[in-house]
Amino acid sequence: MNIGVKKNKKFDLIVWGATGYTGKLVCEYIFKKYKKTNLNWALAGRNKYKIDGLISSLKLKGIPHFVADSNNKKSLLKLTKMTNTICSTVGPYAKYGTLLVEACIESKTNYCDITGETHWIKEIIDKYHTKAIKNKVKIVHACGFDSIPSDFGVFYAQNKIKENSGKYASKISMRVISMKGGISGGTIYSFLNIIEESRKNKNIKKVLNNPHGLSPNKDLFDSDEEDLKKIIFDSTSKKWIGPFVMAAINTRIVRRSNYLMDFKYGRDFIYNEALVFGRSILSKFLGYFRLIPIYLISKNNNTLLKSLLKSFLPKPGQGPKVNSRKNGYFKFRFYIFNNKLRALVSVDGIGCPGYGSTSKMLAESSICLALDEIPIQNGVLTPSVALGNALLKRLEKNADLKFKIKFL
Ligand SMILES: NC(=O)c1ccc[n+]([C@@H]2O[C@H](COP(=O)([O-])OP(=O)(O)OC[C@H]3O[C@@H](n4cnc5c(N)ncnc54)[C@H](OP(=O)(O)O)[C@@H]3O)[C@@H](O)[C@H]2O)c1
Repeated sequence: MNIGVKKNKKFDLIVWGATGYTGKLVCEYIFKKYKKTNLNWALAGRNKYKIDGLISSLKLKGIPHFVADSNNKKSLLKLTKMTNTICSTVGPYAKYGTLLVEACIESKTNYCDITGETHWIKEIIDKYHTKAIKNKVKIVHACGFDSIPSDFGVFYAQNKIKENSGKYASKISMRVISMKGGISGGTIYSFLNIIEESRKNKNIKKVLNNPHGLSPNKDLFDSDEEDLKKIIFDSTSKKWIGPFVMAAINTRIVRRSNYLMDFKYGRDFIYNEALVFGRSILSKFLGYFRLIPIYLISKNNNTLLKSLLKSFLPKPGQGPKVNSRKNGYFKFRFYIFNNKLRALVSVDGIGCPGYGSTSKMLAESSICLALDEIPIQNGVLTPSVALGNALLKRLEKNADLKFKIKFL
């Protein structure tokens, strides 16, 4: 365990994509929370005028800032050579993210982001996992609402159950009890980009549909769970449940964590996620209504419908208003099994999941990556494998996440 944090460069941390909707929130959070500490950070974006506007609107006077271009590797290398860690909010990552990861590996700079683009993570694993290990670098994707609550919910639950019973759980079912929040233009753009790319390229569809898509070979696993695709009555939560759109990334991240730790939880460890609708038959029917927009966007090839949706949904750079960010929340429940149900873990977050909460999770992940004593493992990692207990502490202390276990 631990050490391996390099502190040899000018900055601890650079936030890349600072002028975007989420980037601004990350900068604001770091500035307010860490201004009286020794954290040595800077911000960067592609547009000097927007950066100047950000500095004056958030009163970030004194924070060093830089301009670079995600299509120009030389400009990215200038950034990555100056810092021990890069925190990126520039997406869709499949469009704008690859050269930055390459630059980080070449400069021996740690990297984290909030991508939920499974097919792009797979591309990065295939291209760079071995090189990252060789250069002793950590590339950490999915440090936002997807997939920190899921990945750390399992990490926390497994450590607690092992302490209590001497064994890891053989199955964990996560149920989204409730959540409230908005969506940004950047997230919509990234989601539409996944659909568009998977239509053009059948291999991308295969990765997205593969429950073990982020591990090298699905034959390594003895479990082969599909994502839930319909509404059913769940014997675990005793409620109607349906597909949770983010299970497509979260379950892959959790399974990759297990793979990266040499199958510590077992090759037959089962993990699934679903959205809880309620106990009554009415909640089942309301569940169908909640799934309609996602179904229409993902299944329908109708460009007219898409342009109609795009015309009233937020554009890149836009997102939920302050109140919606503050009043948002999420409540996840993890049912922990070892033959029978043994414990219930809750992971609750305050703040709009995708932005209020995500910006804190990402900021804390990047600071943890830059400053803390963390596991020594390198490569293209998951948040729990890269940052372990050090980030768990930060999430509870600073990012308004609460983890609790009740043994049954
Ligand atoms: N995992 C999660 O829970 C989670 C939550 C929120 C967001 N996300 C993801 O985070 C990403 C950002 O979302 P957002 O809503 O913040 O998006 P956004 O407001 O559109 O911001 C995107 C950022 O990327 C920059 N950018 C775009 N093209 C660029 C290029 N060619 N070179 C350099 N920079 C470029 C933009 O610069 P300008 O400001 O100059 O336009 C902006 O700073 C999306 O992929 C989204 O899906 C994930």
